[in-house]
Amino acid sequence: SEADRTDRIEAARSELGDDVIVLGHNYQRREIVEHADFIGDSYELSKRAANADAPYVVFCGVTFMAESADIITDDDQTVILPSMEASCPMAGMAEALQVDSAWAQITDVVPDADIIPITYMNSYADLKAFCAEQGGLVCTSSNAHHAFEWALERGDKVLFLPDKHLGENTAHRIGLADSIVEWDPWDPENTTTDEAIQAADVVLWDGYCQVHERFRVDHIESVREANPDANVIVHPECRREVVDAADVAGSTSTICETVANADPGETWAIGTEIHLTNHLQRWHPDVNVLPLCGDACMDCNAMRQIDPNYLTWVLEELVDGRERNVISVAPEETELAQVALDRMLEV
Ligand code: 13P
Ligand code: SF4
Repeated sequence: SEADRTDRIEAARSELGDDVIVLGHNYQRREIVEHADFIGDSYELSKRAANADAPYVVFCGVTFMAESADIITDDDQTVILPSMEASCPMAGMAEALQVDSAWAQITDVVPDADIIPITYMNSYADLKAFCAEQGGLVCTSSNAHHAFEWALERGDKVLFLPDKHLGENTAHRIGLADSIVEWDPWDPENTTTDEAIQAADVVLWDGYCQVHERFRVDHIESVREANPDANVIVHPECRREVVDAADVAGSTSTICETVANADPGETWAIGTEIHLTNHLQRWHPDVNVLPLCGDACMDCNAMRQIDPNYLTWVLEELVDGRERNVISVAPEETELAQVALDRMLEV
């Protein structure tokens, strides 16, 4: 039962004491975040891990987040992901090998242009390392516009990976909506013309989040029809027309802060992963928090892989001296990925 499992998790935690810190991403289910020392967005959690002295960091999130935590934390801290199946499909849409070959094709079309690659935090360490090597950087959904400006001050064009929607929303925000071209890495006869690449300021990798891409403008219209006072906030991984129709777009932290700062009785419809919406309903009962699209469909199957039974298992294994599901980024990649993250902090 859930009560037995809670007892086992608590027993393991008390045995491990300060040797372990448990982190829970905003999109994790209730039975996980209830055991977390910190709940937050991906980058915030990595910083929490780095600031903690615990030798073991159990990261309840997805693989790229655990990798980022491993990059940011000290060498003597070990990062553990309760399930190795928890991989963000969007991060998997831009594999370093594939990007390498696209890079050769794109740079061939514009040999005299300085292209700066920017990767969203939702990507694997080898892609972050690639971006650093090519003079580029990492960004989060909160600072993507600063990253674009940083890159365009130093180069002629941006290649943004993997999320085309965040890329398009960001280009729009900085006035470059008409200067975008999409690059589809799965199209064997890539239909993006050389002329289009030459003319564009921003080349968007054709990746997307399968949770956020499913929000539609008619979801916003229906919620407003049923609740005329509703404010709508969506994540910038949503399509451009959805972001345009919403009242606010922001990262998971911005969504959390917005609801936390709402006046009692205000209505907020939330366009992001359903578990965060459910947490906000529990955490802020005086605010009327609504899911933007019914109750059911917008859950992330990667986040869902972190089952409380796996959390119990990795903790009990640690009690017995066994490290399971360690996420460890190779030293060369760590060094380069750190460069790309440091450049992000600079912008
Ligand atoms: P955050 O960077 O806000 O944690 O969001 C991560 C994510 O997976 C969004 O879909
Ligand atoms: Fe990846 Fe989307 Fe899930 Fe976030 S919500 S982890 S971007 S699939």
